[in-house]
Amino acid sequence: MSKLWGGRFTKKTDQLVEEYTASITFDKELAEEDIQGSLAHVAMLGKQGILPADDVDTIKEGLLRVLQRIKRGDIEFSVTDEDIHMNIEKTLIDDIGPVGGKLHTGRSRNDQVATDMHLYLRKRVVEFIELLRKLQESLVGQAKANLDTIVPGYTHLQRAQPILFAHHLMAYVSMFGRDIERLQDSYKRVNTLPLGAGALAGTTFPIDRHFVAKQLNFDRVYENSLDAVSDRDFILEFLSHASIIMMHLSRLSEELILWSSTEFRFVELDDAFCTGSSIMPQKKNPDVPELVRGKTGRVYGNLVGLLTVLKSLPLAYNKDMQEDKEGMFDTVRTMQGALQLFAPMIATMKVNKERMRQAVNQDFSNATDIADFLVGKGLPFRQAHEVIGKTVLYCIQQDKYLLDLTIDEFKEFSPLFDENIYEVLQPEQVVNARNVYGGTATTQVSDAIARAEQSLNEVSAWVSEYSERCK
Ligand code: ARG
Repeated sequence: MSKLWGGRFTKKTDQLVEEYTASITFDKELAEEDIQGSLAHVAMLGKQGILPADDVDTIKEGLLRVLQRIKRGDIEFSVTDEDIHMNIEKTLIDDIGPVGGKLHTGRSRNDQVATDMHLYLRKRVVEFIELLRKLQESLVGQAKANLDTIVPGYTHLQRAQPILFAHHLMAYVSMFGRDIERLQDSYKRVNTLPLGAGALAGTTFPIDRHFVAKQLNFDRVYENSLDAVSDRDFILEFLSHASIIMMHLSRLSEELILWSSTEFRFVELDDAFCTGSSIMPQKKNPDVPELVRGKTGRVYGNLVGLLTVLKSLPLAYNKDMQEDKEGMFDTVRTMQGALQLFAPMIATMKVNKERMRQAVNQDFSNATDIADFLVGKGLPFRQAHEVIGKTVLYCIQQDKYLLDLTIDEFKEFSPLFDENIYEVLQPEQVVNARNVYGGTATTQVSDAIARAEQSLNEVSAWVSEYSERCK
């Protein structure tokens, strides 16, 4: 059979044009969604009396057979049939005869492809929420195991104030929590049905878009037919959220890489998640976080790529929009790989508590606390800051830490010092003194962990509900 749209043409398509314009090599990934959408469409055509029931049944059975064959890998897609939509339609017609040609009544590939993309992406949104939840679970697990582990907290990558390692990990739990919220919020826009918009203006057939929406579990239908076929915001939104997720992962990656270095030795990643060097026998390289950090670049690229494709595009459909797919698939694969590895890598990571403790004992991250001590004695904070600055400078010159100073040495800098200063300077005291909501005190961090566990349960319930809905 010639091309499905061949009627108007007198010449065969140039071979290179065929290859250049075809999308089947990548949009075959949408096969299931395409058939899912077609089944709902043809059911609606039957209900509306647009097609007789017999035809509807024949088409449905044919579509299900095509689906089985695709799943078995029985169908060889062809570039001549351009894309997944026409490959499936052609296979259907080959199977059930000319009645298969009735499937496309009241529909265009423009609203069809948009529908496929919505069906595809809403499943991915739910899956990514679950992957993020699992990563949060690993982080919370490590936080619980490290509620007593004190580590220097950094600003400018310089030691700033001691914190609980659990508190540091819980910061990432919050970050991934926002990612989950963003994806949950995007669901309602992904879950909007374009089908029924036709090529751009609607259709002359008395279709029932809301019936199709209901069949496919879409909560709403696009309001405007031009918008329905031109909108790719939902993909952009996904790519933006993915970029932020990868950015978060890249920050965690960077920290894991630093912490695994001999200079830090704060953590050790499990052997199963590291690789060796072909020349240096002693090496154990944190390849996974390095690659995640590196792959963040392509995810940003896919976002900028699609933004650029869509920029200045006139309404409605333009072939440019076929370029929405490869970047999206690539982002899905890249992020799936990263998140699937991160959860177990965090769960199996060894935390070197002694080394962290040693780092805390050998720094000045308790300096703020003695400044606060002097403030408590009535000294204005600015003056206290100056006094402690001088004290620290003295320590550096003497090769000492604050806890090494005698009370007489302290008194040289301010008569307000007394013996209590040694208690104030203890790392546990420094940490637990920050007993404000969201602070690093042990009770605050345990409360944060309890809240996170509550939200893990809520997200888990959301995922079970929505994975049913988007089947
Ligand atoms: N393969 C096309 C795409 O992905 C499907 C829509 C084609 N529509 C058209 N008017 N040529 O964008």
